[in-house]
Amino acid sequence: MTARFTNPADRNSNSINSHSTSAEANARPLKQALYVIPSEITQKIDVWVQKFPADRKQSAVLYALKLVQAHHQGWLSEAAMNAVAHYLGLPKITVYEVATFYSMFELKPVGRHVLSICTNISCMLNGCESIVAHLKQRLGIGLGQTTPDGRITLKPVECLAACQEAPMMQIAEQNYAQLTPEKIDHILDGLS
Ligand code: FES
Repeated sequence: MTARFTNPADRNSNSINSHSTSAEANARPLKQALYVIPSEITQKIDVWVQKFPADRKQSAVLYALKLVQAHHQGWLSEAAMNAVAHYLGLPKITVYEVATFYSMFELKPVGRHVLSICTNISCMLNGCESIVAHLKQRLGIGLGQTTPDGRITLKPVECLAACQEAPMMQIAEQNYAQLTPEKIDHILDGLS
């Protein structure tokens, strides 16, 4: 889990999209769709809530967001985040702060598989640029983009805390270490 750094001014807003451009807003067609957390998910959230003191529901936000994201096609719409805030009885901004800080949370639609490729210093020194170039060439997309068939999103991330295994990437919370173009080919061929 790595942190995503945001403009502090953004964190003072009560709207997650207050600084979005109209183009960004148009790229999120499901943003305003109503989202109701299904009971099977709230039951799992409750398990986490009960692990913390009654006045510390904020501690369950990260786990609630992970559960909702997994249920919501792998990303968090504003409505989904608001639903988490409402369910936990917390201000929306408390949920937005967590969702925008950690890179494991997606704030726009993503592909079925998200390839989080580390581009930070250790991975850079160990050849991540050639790995990124190979991924771009194989997938026909750039960093931050999703293949037209919605299968794969190529996401650059900061240090994934496995520098000793650089260059590396993460897919569905599983690490893939000491990457080479050949390993990339094998991994891509194994994705559904
Ligand atoms: S710099 Fe890539 S895992 Fe730390």
